[in-house]
Amino acid sequence: MKRFFKTVLPKIVFLTLLVSCGNLKENNLIDKKVEDLLSQMTLEEKIGQLVQQTTIGYTDNMIGQIKQGNIGSILNEVDPDVINNLQKVAMEESRLGIPILFARDVIHGFKTIFPVPLGQAASWNPQLIEEGSRITAVEATSAGVRWTFAPMLDIARDQRWGRIVEGFGEDPFLTSVMGAATIKGFQGKELNDPASLLACAKHFAGYGAAEGGRDYNTTVISTEQLRNTYLPPFKAAVEAGAGTLMVSFNEINGIPNSGNTSLIRDILRKEWGFDGLVVSDWNSIGEMLNHGYVENPEQAAEAALKAGVDMDMENHVYLHHLARLLKENRIKESMIDDAVRRILRLKFKLGLFENPYVEIKESVFYADEHLAKAKETAIQSAILLKNENNILPLSDKIKSIAVIGPMADAPHDQLGTWVFDGEKSHTVTPLATLRAEYGSRLKINYVAGLNYSRDLDNKQFAQAVAAAKASDVVLFFGGEESILSGEAHSRADISLPGAQKDLLAKIAETGKPVILIVMAGRAIEIYKELPLVDAYLFSFHPGTMGGPALVDLIFGKTVPSGKLPVTYPKMVGQMPLYYNHKNTGRPPAGELETIENIPLEAGQVSLGNTSYYLDAGKDPLFPFGYGLSYTTFEYSDLKLSATEITGKDNLRVSCTVKNTGNREAAEVVQLYIRDLVGSVTRPVKELKAFDKITLKAGESQTVEFTLTPDALKFRNNQNQQVLEPGNFNLWIGPNSAEGLKGAFILK
Ligand code: BGC
Repeated sequence: MKRFFKTVLPKIVFLTLLVSCGNLKENNLIDKKVEDLLSQMTLEEKIGQLVQQTTIGYTDNMIGQIKQGNIGSILNEVDPDVINNLQKVAMEESRLGIPILFARDVIHGFKTIFPVPLGQAASWNPQLIEEGSRITAVEATSAGVRWTFAPMLDIARDQRWGRIVEGFGEDPFLTSVMGAATIKGFQGKELNDPASLLACAKHFAGYGAAEGGRDYNTTVISTEQLRNTYLPPFKAAVEAGAGTLMVSFNEINGIPNSGNTSLIRDILRKEWGFDGLVVSDWNSIGEMLNHGYVENPEQAAEAALKAGVDMDMENHVYLHHLARLLKENRIKESMIDDAVRRILRLKFKLGLFENPYVEIKESVFYADEHLAKAKETAIQSAILLKNENNILPLSDKIKSIAVIGPMADAPHDQLGTWVFDGEKSHTVTPLATLRAEYGSRLKINYVAGLNYSRDLDNKQFAQAVAAAKASDVVLFFGGEESILSGEAHSRADISLPGAQKDLLAKIAETGKPVILIVMAGRAIEIYKELPLVDAYLFSFHPGTMGGPALVDLIFGKTVPSGKLPVTYPKMVGQMPLYYNHKNTGRPPAGELETIENIPLEAGQVSLGNTSYYLDAGKDPLFPFGYGLSYTTFEYSDLKLSATEITGKDNLRVSCTVKNTGNREAAEVVQLYIRDLVGSVTRPVKELKAFDKITLKAGESQTVEFTLTPDALKFRNNQNQQVLEPGNFNLWIGPNSAEGLKGAFILK
């Protein structure tokens, strides 16, 4: 130990200083280059850097605009030859030779498609997510893309909102951890590595709070909620080094975010010190007209630049109006200069000036190790929600299976939303996997029953029922097509679409055991169908390798370990629903009145009644953090390093987790707290830490977490970050509804 302090520690400090001095030097050098370049730029060239335009290929129009220096970034070009040719024009034929930044929505994979982000969150495995994002970066950059618009960090508590699938769920802590992992994976160690993909934390902010779950809708968010729920993942993204942020379409409390000075200039830049680039969302600057916030495109450009939006995605209002606004003294040139600086700085950091072209090399697409990682991620993203009589994994005695349902062989739809580049020809579906891996041993009776998720035609039903009758067990692959979630794809009815519910009911009538596997972009309403099935495996859209992943789980080659990153509702009418809600003055407790029990012509009573639904009760179908395994885990021996701490102390909390079953398996151990009394009311539970551990059959492990004073802080209504003394409860457990309970006092 002494040796550590005498010799090792000084070396570490010295090396850290050396690295930070190196970074400082590097940054100073870049700043100097930026200033040199800026001083040579005309106003038109400066404004050009603030323009992002969608590709129209290698056309005269595009070439002309690039030569004039009218484009800073191009969106959606992925042909490396076209990219190199356009870049050559920028480098050699524009006056100052400023490279173009090529961007694309590479959301959960480029060619090798990983599970949708909400599915990735269900893995609760940030290391795995970072590794997957690295692979995505390697593939995307090899096509010339250097900037992606991900991760989406919008907290979402409403399954109707189609974009819930693009983020990491309802919890600020889980979203922060997964977001940071994604950013690290995309950006790699150094931005100037040609395989680094600039990340963009989006959509800043509050977009997931869209009223009624309807995309693009208004949000009304208190300061306390904004600070405690919606902003933390963005702050974490800034701390993780995200190079860029995108503002969102929505308004918050009457101010559209593309013109929201307090959000961008005050919080993001001044308070958090973000010096990266802020891009608008697609056309979002101009949409301030629709919001009724500005009267014309000039005013929109003025409001956005003043608020701190550096780059105009696709709207062209900066291109057309900034010069005039400057002439009329409505904006300052320093505002344009600052935005240009931030864009140029990133282009230097990415090494684009020295290394502007994409090296066309042997393709890395769908490399074996990429597919293996996609499969592992799909395995860890699947959540086992019901497993009556341990029907899963399927026994070796089974000789025949019926494979039914519209998602059993849907190579396009299992990829999920926001897939532009991944090809369905590379998708491995469950049916293909079953045939390839089990076809010689098992009789596989496949009848889709419905050709796609919304299909209403029941003409294959009789055949599907016959297939079920002829088999030992039914695997029913249901869910939603990929187009039913994602941007602009909100649903008011979140149950299985088309005639799937009818088909499932018919299959269940055969009396054969039914395993329901759902691929979807949201937690599908399933409570009426759940009693009809013996097991329920929920996988979100699992991506290219979804088939092999699910089949391995079904046959027990591997064990489910996914846990819900959202609260799973019984009914859509419970939306918004989330575990970290407030307690209310009338929290539900004891026996609850239900709609069936109310006597006829009952008199008006409310006293003693509590906050719940007569027809849905108080609970979700499954709580946040929930997921079953093929083994069982026992939690014991909760220990706290102290029962009283001061605001300067860390609290160490530990417990023992034992695998009490007979399979090696992974468990996500979760730590929640409740601050019992606050100057603003506090949630009934808040996730503060988690760890995914793997235990052999019979093995035990002590899991320890450290709660820092920062983790106990919150924003009050005066917008102060406070640490308030008082009583706290604490739980370590397998999900948000169970666990060992402890308590401590913050003095
Ligand atoms: C979406 C963004 C996306 C952008 C560019 C917008 O419609 O809201 O998430 O990054 O388009 O494609």
